[in-house]
Amino acid sequence: MKNYDIQDTWHYHNGTKHPNGTLLSRSHTYHPGFRPIPYKIYKNIQKISLLLDKEPIGISALDAISTIYDSKVEMIPDLNVLTRMLYFSGGITRRIKFSPPIGAFEFRAASCTGALYHIEIYVVCSDIPGLCAGIYHFDPKELALNVLRKGDFRQVIVDATADEEFVKQAPITLIFTDIFSRNSIKYQAREYRHAFWDCGTIIANTLSITSAHKISSRLISGFVDSQINNLLDLDSKKEASLVMISIGRTDKPIPKSPPLVPINIESENSDNNIDYPEINSMHDASSLYNTIEVKSWRKHFVRPQYTTTDLIPLRAETLTKDTIEKVILRRGSTRVFSHDSITFEQLSTILKRSTNGIDTDFLSRYDILNDLYIIVNNVDGLPSGSYYYVRQRDSLELLRRGDFREISGNLGLGQDLPHDASVTIFFMVNLQKVLESFGNRGYRIAQLDAAIAGGKMYLAAYAFNLGATGLTFYDDMVTDFFSPHAKNKDTMFMIALGKKAKSSHS
Ligand SMILES: Cc1cc2nc3c(=O)[nH]c(=O)nc-3n(C[C@H](O)[C@H](O)[C@H](O)COP(=O)(O)O)c2cc1C
Repeated sequence: MKNYDIQDTWHYHNGTKHPNGTLLSRSHTYHPGFRPIPYKIYKNIQKISLLLDKEPIGISALDAISTIYDSKVEMIPDLNVLTRMLYFSGGITRRIKFSPPIGAFEFRAASCTGALYHIEIYVVCSDIPGLCAGIYHFDPKELALNVLRKGDFRQVIVDATADEEFVKQAPITLIFTDIFSRNSIKYQAREYRHAFWDCGTIIANTLSITSAHKISSRLISGFVDSQINNLLDLDSKKEASLVMISIGRTDKPIPKSPPLVPINIESENSDNNIDYPEINSMHDASSLYNTIEVKSWRKHFVRPQYTTTDLIPLRAETLTKDTIEKVILRRGSTRVFSHDSITFEQLSTILKRSTNGIDTDFLSRYDILNDLYIIVNNVDGLPSGSYYYVRQRDSLELLRRGDFREISGNLGLGQDLPHDASVTIFFMVNLQKVLESFGNRGYRIAQLDAAIAGGKMYLAAYAFNLGATGLTFYDDMVTDFFSPHAKNKDTMFMIALGKKAKSSHS
């Protein structure tokens, strides 16, 4: 099986490391004036306008990111709820005018490297109140659904996932795809990491809003790629499905799908026609080609046991009650951190709430794959130094005491943000172990898993009116810094948390 030739992942991962990435061109430049249109535009397509109710439903952000519903009763979201899920995941939340040639920028609900917005969202559903069964593409620009296919096609997804039990009873499945060139124009072959980072921050929002509505959902990462791409009629060299979320529960059996004919609707993918074969190779190497592969892949990963200051999360009654909707709308990546401290209680609550785990098809219980390593620059009640988060025990293990502000800045590509922040957090995995268990597809889930928890950290920080930003990093320097503890681990995602400086717009 191609998926278990894991040298393919090592070739890609090592080849896209900063600063010695052999798959990256040193002379490459990107000018924001050449930013691709961040929307997939279908020509001559039937559209359904969506009516958005942005009103908070009263669930706090901290509860929404940390609660998982396991519903045994029928729960079919209506169009109003679906619209909220789509909007708070991938909708436009802010418009900022920059001077030419950049011009007006539309920012979305979740953070995204380079604000290039290369992740698209599709809906596959049965009849739900307010919407007929069909396949739809979410158009955030016009807040509308593009009608791709009419009819109930869920059986195709059930087949592609080898009868995954949650998918079989879900009235709605969202499919998240990546338009490679929209992001590779800036980040070259490293784009395939960004695919999962930027999908993960969106999914953190989707899961949170779904949980706020008390609806169960499951992240589905094992499927026959070509079947899902065909369902959406994608040119998979340019745009491919990354992951799905099945949502809700219906007791009605799924009918046989209508025949799958080509959709034949022209679309513009804002393609710049520069392909990076390494991205396609990595995607192919981590693809599953038939349902036998999917079934055998879906065995559960056994996480190694690790052998500590206990966290002091704030008590529930003292927590900020700001709703998930309000927090998503005010989130934006912090552009300048002050050197002011956050409190250990805030850090404890952020860590605990954002790593409560998710319901997925790759972990046997609500868990996350990544380990968290932390540099504490300035936190009241916690000495500065480097730490490992022992999640099983809700405690932080001190690795080295000291002032590592300079190093924190250096690890984050020498930027001011990780230098000035109170805390920088690195999501790391033993990639070899993950690949031995999951094959090349393990690379997808390791990146995604980190990004979802990172996306939740954004929300938790903003719930406290603190700041946060995702960051990119010098891979091997991070491993070296946290070694020997982090020996054999690779960084999947980095985020900085702290107090926003007064001049920072977000
Ligand atoms: C994974 C990830 C890495 C990022 N890396 C950086 C970075 O290295 N430097 C930076 O200034 N911003 C970084 N950002 C922030 C993005 O530039 C920002 O999310 C984007 O411009 C959209 O703006 P918003 O988050 O305010 O909505 C990163 C964001 C993510 C999700």
